[in-house]
Amino acid sequence: MNGMYRFRLGMIVLLALIIVPLAAQSPSPRILFVYDEVNEQTEPYIARFRGAFTAYGLPFDEAAAGELKSRDLSRYDVLVVHGIVQAFNAKSPIRDWLKTKPAVTGKRVYLFVTANRWFLDNLFRDLTGLLEKSGAKPVDAVSMATKDTDDATEKAAVEAFVGKVR
Ligand SMILES: Cc1cc2nc3c(=O)[nH]c(=O)nc-3n(C[C@H](O)[C@H](O)[C@H](O)COP(=O)(O)O)c2cc1C
Repeated sequence: MNGMYRFRLGMIVLLALIIVPLAAQSPSPRILFVYDEVNEQTEPYIARFRGAFTAYGLPFDEAAAGELKSRDLSRYDVLVVHGIVQAFNAKSPIRDWLKTKPAVTGKRVYLFVTANRWFLDNLFRDLTGLLEKSGAKPVDAVSMATKDTDDATEKAAVEAFVGKVR
């Protein structure tokens, strides 16, 4: 093997070692974080979700359900949805939005539903059913009654949940 041939071979191997791992790295999914609305009960969760996305280095956009009409959903691969039970499950801006049959077909959806105590299962069932009807792919879901949970537990639950999005 002459020197030039060895040099070229070495360069090819070197390039392969650099390029193959780079190509194998999948780009960050385009994430939209959706919450019901801003109120005293949702605000701590919104802060926890923002903190968790940032901690994992995941870029994201966010919107309250009522703002989604004007949002181009084709820009996102993943929806991270936090719904809370309100008024014995009579009120849910996220449910209202899903009833409009938004263009979520094929999107990966992570659904996180909380309630102080009552009607958690009802909202969870409503949102899961509507997502499936819309052709979304709920890949992970958590429902949590928060009556006896403290701040640290809720923060840890959100972090564990967001950790699965990567
Ligand atoms: C207007 C309003 C109505 C609510 N109604 C209910 C309810 O009917 N049942 C329930 O279990 N929790 C209810 N909650 C509590 C929220 O679901 C709960 O606070 C939320 O899921 C966040 O959990 P956290 O209390 O741990 O912060 C209500 C909250 C608000 C703001």
